[in-house]
Parts: sequence; structure tokens; C-alpha cells
Amino acid sequence: MFDDLLILIGRFHPLIIHLPIGFIILGILIELNSKKLKWSNDALKFIFFWATITGVLSIVSGYLQYQNGGYLWQTVQNHFLAGILTVILSFSFYQKLIEKSFFKLLPRKLFTVGNSIVLLLAGHLGGNITHGEEHLTEPIKNLASFNKVQSKPIKYYKDYKEKPLFSSVIQPILDEKCVKCHNSKKSSGKLKMHNSNELIKGGRNGSIINFERPEMSEMYIRIHLPKDKKKHMPPKGGKQLTREEINLVSNWIKDGSSFKKSVEEFKLDENLINYFFTIEKPFYPTENVEMPNIETLEKVRAKNILINPISKNSNFFSVNTLNYSEFKDIDLSIMSSVRENIVNLDLSYSKITDSIFFNLKYYTNLTVLKLNNTNILGENIDELSQLKNLKRIYLVNTKFDAQNTEKLIRLKYLEKVYLFQEDRILETPLKSSKDFEEILDFGNYSLNNSKQNKES
Ligand code: HEC
Repeated sequence: MFDDLLILIGRFHPLIIHLPIGFIILGILIELNSKKLKWSNDALKFIFFWATITGVLSIVSGYLQYQNGGYLWQTVQNHFLAGILTVILSFSFYQKLIEKSFFKLLPRKLFTVGNSIVLLLAGHLGGNITHGEEHLTEPIKNLASFNKVQSKPIKYYKDYKEKPLFSSVIQPILDEKCVKCHNSKKSSGKLKMHNSNELIKGGRNGSIINFERPEMSEMYIRIHLPKDKKKHMPPKGGKQLTREEINLVSNWIKDGSSFKKSVEEFKLDENLINYFFTIEKPFYPTENVEMPNIETLEKVRAKNILINPISKNSNFFSVNTLNYSEFKDIDLSIMSSVRENIVNLDLSYSKITDSIFFNLKYYTNLTVLKLNNTNILGENIDELSQLKNLKRIYLVNTKFDAQNTEKLIRLKYLEKVYLFQEDRILETPLKSSKDFEEILDFGNYSLNNSKQNKES
């Protein structure tokens, strides 16, 4: 009961903090106009008295929110300190106004300036917690970098050649550069571009693709207009199409805007092909995944589990439970809502068992799985046979049973399994498949020798 009350008070924190904020802003405004306002000193006493009281309430509710809301101390500490500083300043200013001896000596300006700064700081740091660290800096960065050439494009494998150009390459470009403003929720110019049907429908001024005279297509015209023209798309300030993307979209339109024709059938220029396509298969999956749920990330991190993007702006994540050695099979469930985001999973030194494979099989984008120094026997490891992206499994210093290497054959997409065991020599009982043996790495070539030397 009492606990629930504390949780409730904590939840009110985002509401309560607006009380001291209101008092302090009002106080600063009165202070700035104090020459004009005869009553200012009396009002300020009243205001900063209440700013202090409500400030203390904010700190208490904030602390409860931190304790019960699953936040990491690291995340909240600066906001917490800035909050305390705000209250100390309000309190000191109140002391000065009622002419307490020590505080009388301090200049008034110190409080006005100080109060403004800490208020902004505490507010900003609080905003970072609720909205994520980039909620202010991202639009600023975007503003600062407008017109700059964009980052590298997504590369497709050469085996995409038989796939439709539209769905495999053009739509993803539109998704990245146009759909932000042209979708079912926000349809600027009454135009939606998130799928081919909508694209055909066109916008406020009708069709944007002219199948008879492709070069008169509104879409074609707009992307070719000079950047400073009002009708240029994407509008100035937004993420621009690269020269190659303009080229490719133009090719697609000029060649009849087909939604079915394959990449190959478009007979694209060599340079363009090399820009968008690559021979090598990328290591990680190329399908896009949604951004992970922020709350889940917070929850995972609250358990001391590391979860971070594999590179800047990637929605694919690496997870490492090393700092949470109590990790058990059941703990995997806290990540289930972000499982598609996880490509690297390191559960080494954890307390997992072979049952974990029954849940891991749903981690469809999993590429590298590390299970070193665990009690894994490999009993159910063939549960992972559906994971098309799983390339590497680390089973160093485990209880892996050599009999279970047979099960690994079912994991068709594997490129390497690390099976070196410090305390014993593990050998594959399978002599049949040479290809498969190359995938298994027992790591005992030289070590094997040195051991034998010692023994002899
Ligand atoms: C930042 C928001 C934004 C982005 C991104 C954006 N547009 Fe637009 N678009 C608009 C707005 C606003 C209008 C309506 C005003 C106008 O017609 O210029 C519009 C209108 C259009 C129209 C005219 C629709 C009609 O029937 O009048 C076309 C065509 C168009 N956009 C194509 C594109 C393409 C192609 C892209 C991506 C390469 C794109 N837009 C990206 C905001 C955007």
C-alpha cells in the first residue's frame, strides 16, 4: 500500500516540477522589473518561499520516480544535482530577501542569473531523460547540416538483380527521403508516398507520375528543380537525395515507372549499379527494422546489461550481459520486445541453460551469439536452425557435448562455431562432411601440440 503511494508520488514528478518552474520564472520576471514594481520585494519573498517548498517536493518525487521507474543513476544524476542546485538558489535568495546576515552580502544579480541558468539546465537534463538525449540536438544538427551531401547509401547485393527495382531500391529511397512528410498521418500537398498505390494516386494536383510523358511527371520535375526553388523536393533543410539517387529515380520514371520490372531489366548504367549494389554480402542483415522501444532499453540497462547500437544511427544493437552475471534464461524476456533489433548477443559467463534456445530462436536478426563460459551442452541448439542471419556461435569453455555437433549441421547459415575447450579436447565425431568441418573451430591445433608435449 505504502509502496504504491510512493510510486504514485514518483509518477507525479513530471507534473510537480512545473510548480517551482512557474514560481521561479515569475520571480525572475518580477525581479527584472523590480524598479517599476513597488511591491516587488514582498512578492518575491512569497514567491521564493514557495519555490523552495515546491522545489523540495520535486526533488522528493523525482527521487521516488528514479527508485521505482527503473532508471539508472547515471542517467538521472546530473538532472538530480541540477534540481538540488535550483532549490538551494531559491532558498538562498529567499534568505537574502528576508535579510539573513550572510546572504545579505551576496549580489542580487547572482541569483537572477544563477536561477535562470540552473532552471534551464535542470529542465534540459530532465527532457533528455524523458525524450532521449538527442531530442534537442538532433533537429539542430539537421539544421546545421542541411544541403550537405548525405551519408553512404544502403548497398544491395548483386543477387538483387532479379528483384523489382521499385520495391527493392526506389521505395527504400522514398522511405528515407520523402515518406517523413508524405505518409498516411502527414500528407503534405495531400500526397502519400509510403506505397505504390498511394504513389499512383498522386497529390493535391493529381497524378505525380505521367506515364505518357515521363519527363513531365511532377515527381521528376520537383527533384530536378534547383535546391533554392520553393517547389524543390525534398524541401530545403530536409535530407536531400544524392546525385545518384536522383539519377536512379529519374531512370525509373523515364523508363516507364514500372513497379514490376527487375533491376536487370532497367539496364542501368555501370556506375549507378556499382553505387547501389555490391558483390559482398554484408555481415549484418540489410532489412530495415523499427527503432527499438526506448522504455525497453531503459529496463534492460537498469539491469546493468549493455545494449548499444552497432554503429551510429543503426537500429541494430549489441547486447552484453557481462556486468549482470546472474543472468538466467528467464531474463531474456526483458528484451523480447526489441529482439528484432539484436544482432550481437553476448551471454558469456551467465547462468543460462540449454532452454534458452527455445526463446533465442525468435531473435531473427541474430548474427553473432556468444555463449562462452556457460553450462551450455548444446542439447537444443538446433532450435536455432531458422535463424537465417546467424553466422557465428561461440561455445568456448562450455559443457558442450561433442555428440551435439551433429545438431549444428542443421544451422545452415553458420560460418563459424568456436568450440575450443580449455579443460578437455573436443573432437567432432563427424568425419563425413569436409565443408562442415571447416565451420567448426576447435582451436586446438598448436595448443594440442603443446599439451601433447607436456604429457610426453
Ligand atoms: C520536409 C517535408 C517534405 C519532404 C521530406 C518531402 N516533401 Fe514533398 N512536399 C512537401 C510539402 C509541404 C508539399 C506541399 C507544398 C508544395 O506543393 O510544394 C509537398 C509537395 C510535393 C509534391 C506535389 C504534390 C501535389 O500534388 O501538389 C510532390 C510531387 C512531392 N512533394 C514530392 C516529394 C518527393 C519525391 C520527396 C522525396 C524525394 C518529397 N516530396 C519530400 C514536403 C515534403
